[in-house]
Amino acid sequence: MKPQETLALDAIDLSSPDFWALPIAEREGAFQKLRREAPIRHFKEIDYIPGLPVGEGYYAITRHADILEISRQPEIFCSSRGATTMNDLPQDMLEFYGSMINMDDPRHARLRGIVSQSFTPRVMQNLMDDVQHVAVEVLERIRDMGACDFVTEVSQPFPLKIICGMMDVPESQYAFVLAKSNIILSSGDPEFIPEGTDLIQAFMMAGAELSGMMSELGAHKRRHPGHDLTSALVTAELDGERLTDQELASFFILLLAAGNETTRNAITHALMALCTYPDQRALWAADFEAIAPTAVEEIVRWATPVIFMRRTATRDAVVAGHQFHAGDKCILFYNSANRDERVFPDPYRFDLRRDPNFHVGFGGPGPHFCLGAHLARREITVMFRELFKRLPGLHVTGEPDRLRSGFINGIKHLPVAF
Ligand code: HEM
Repeated sequence: MKPQETLALDAIDLSSPDFWALPIAEREGAFQKLRREAPIRHFKEIDYIPGLPVGEGYYAITRHADILEISRQPEIFCSSRGATTMNDLPQDMLEFYGSMINMDDPRHARLRGIVSQSFTPRVMQNLMDDVQHVAVEVLERIRDMGACDFVTEVSQPFPLKIICGMMDVPESQYAFVLAKSNIILSSGDPEFIPEGTDLIQAFMMAGAELSGMMSELGAHKRRHPGHDLTSALVTAELDGERLTDQELASFFILLLAAGNETTRNAITHALMALCTYPDQRALWAADFEAIAPTAVEEIVRWATPVIFMRRTATRDAVVAGHQFHAGDKCILFYNSANRDERVFPDPYRFDLRRDPNFHVGFGGPGPHFCLGAHLARREITVMFRELFKRLPGLHVTGEPDRLRSGFINGIKHLPVAF
């Protein structure tokens, strides 16, 4: 793929939904131009979700080095003011969506500490076993179909079942959890939220419903703890403190949001890339274990499932010669950093042996680096190991149906045959 610089600098509008509907090559061309000519550039804000407050705009940070510098200074570029979304989130929304990703220390460190210590060796072992079982289960289910929608049949149920299994959510609730998490990350796509719906209302409702389910599960696990993450979380203590019901519920919503769509899209983009570049597929299939460690990193760089995260300046500061003022919003465009020609030789080449590969697909260095990176790497590896083994001829047969979003690099449907 070669980026096409069809837009003049002044015509690039990262806030416009039309920009995100452009062909990928043109979108990449725009980011290439921004990195070269205006790596820290101000854009007007729009209400991505009608009803959310529209601020004074944001600075788009598009170079790898600048994203690293900002990520490393969480006390100056924080996550809690108004949230890490482009528009500030109102207080009542933060109740459901206010978990650690939207916090700063000391609250962030406290919550992350409780969660980290809940990943006991026993919880981890169960989780790793589950990844293997679920991968086999979803692939065996499609084996005789001959053709299917790869997203709805494989890459979507796979991480969902793993996260629900890890929390010991009853299987009868999986469809409910999927429907609610699709609403939360839909960016208002009409496939998941009918046109004309009050989006804030729909997001609040989905959050409240998931929250209710989790409070019940948490209460049950307090009385009957098992070897699952929910039990570990509700019984964990850090400095004599336990998680509240609200913290448990919003952490679960974060896990669903952060762990589902991301892994789903990494796997879907990887399959598309493997079909577009058969030499890379042949290389990996020929020596799976040797290539897997670098392949997984390249897949996350290539897919960049999370397009951006926001930071907000807590005080005046200078980055790359640019003067930021307290309150300025900085949007860290990970997709752009992951194609930065200053860091990645031939950045538009899908190269499963790329090494080194300092991508920021899991976020920049700092306290918010993806908590699930280890699990995600394992999920991607196991899925492709089993896929090559069980359905080696699986290939894409049509165009992907993309999610209408400037936040999640999502694919809703992808026809495949085998
Ligand atoms: C390929 C898959 C994944 C990608 C691309 C990804 C990406 C990211 C990114 C970019 C961040 C940084 C947020 C920030 O800097 O503000 C993040 C944080 C996080 N991720 Fe992931 N993620 C993936 C898989 C997962 C999985 C499987 C889980 C858990 C089941 C998970 C849980 C989290 C959590 C809890 C955070 C917040 C950490 C914090 O704020 O301290 N992620 N992820």
